[in-house]
Amino acid sequence: MASGSEAAEIVRAIEIAETPEKLNRRAAEHFLQIADDAINRNRFFTVALSGGSTPKALYRLLASEEYRNNIDWSRVYFFFGDERCVPPDSEESNYRMARESILDPLGIDKRNVFRWETELEDPQTTAQRYAQVIHRFFAEKCKGLVKDAIPQFELVLLGMGADGHTASLFPFSPALSENEKIAAANWIEKLNTYRVTLTFPIFNHAANVIFLAAGSEKAETVAAVLEGKFDPDKLPSQGVQPLEGRLIWSIDMAAARHLAAA
Ligand code: 6PG
Repeated sequence: MASGSEAAEIVRAIEIAETPEKLNRRAAEHFLQIADDAINRNRFFTVALSGGSTPKALYRLLASEEYRNNIDWSRVYFFFGDERCVPPDSEESNYRMARESILDPLGIDKRNVFRWETELEDPQTTAQRYAQVIHRFFAEKCKGLVKDAIPQFELVLLGMGADGHTASLFPFSPALSENEKIAAANWIEKLNTYRVTLTFPIFNHAANVIFLAAGSEKAETVAAVLEGKFDPDKLPSQGVQPLEGRLIWSIDMAAARHLAAA
């Protein structure tokens, strides 16, 4: 992550779609292209899914007849960028949202899905366990995709909250300063609860990061994150700056309406 008050010039693409539907189609095409490339190179594809509501439509689109036959899903391994500290069958669970919108519809083998074990006794144990699971997966399956001891996801999908958070990296929260561990239990003051989340080191080691943001309620924050002062403590989404990977912000017109570049 760039130090100091100014972000290092990072290579990023800002793609503005006229409607959420077109945004999802664009994101689905990126997903397919990145997956196809990864499977051709490594024979498998690793993706960390975003939670929240925005990606639901993308997940459903990928599982639709129109898209599902473009990938050998047996070669796709699913992880999660963050999770709420709730049981996996809770309505709040990011895992449950993904299971219902893409994993079950595609009949994904459970051995290809690595969720946060939020049923463990405490968030810290859940985070430690998940970091172990990710490190073990990459050590066993793809030593070449571990750099500086940090695994490299082919794709990380992220959303952004109106407060500038991404995954469960919320403004001024403790996990923002985690620069070694790849997973953390993060106390979220405003929610008065813990969340578990991957951290900037692993997000910034990804080969591709795609932010999905839609809706006018995100517009001010999108402009602040993409064109405003670099302040990742206040706007954690700014802290996602892939060291060598590709960063794409895929937004709709409503979320782009305050962008000077729009
Ligand atoms: C979560 C997500 C979170 C989400 C943003 C945007 O666990 O909720 O990881 O970071 O992406 O809050 O959420 P919406 O897509 O619902 O606006």
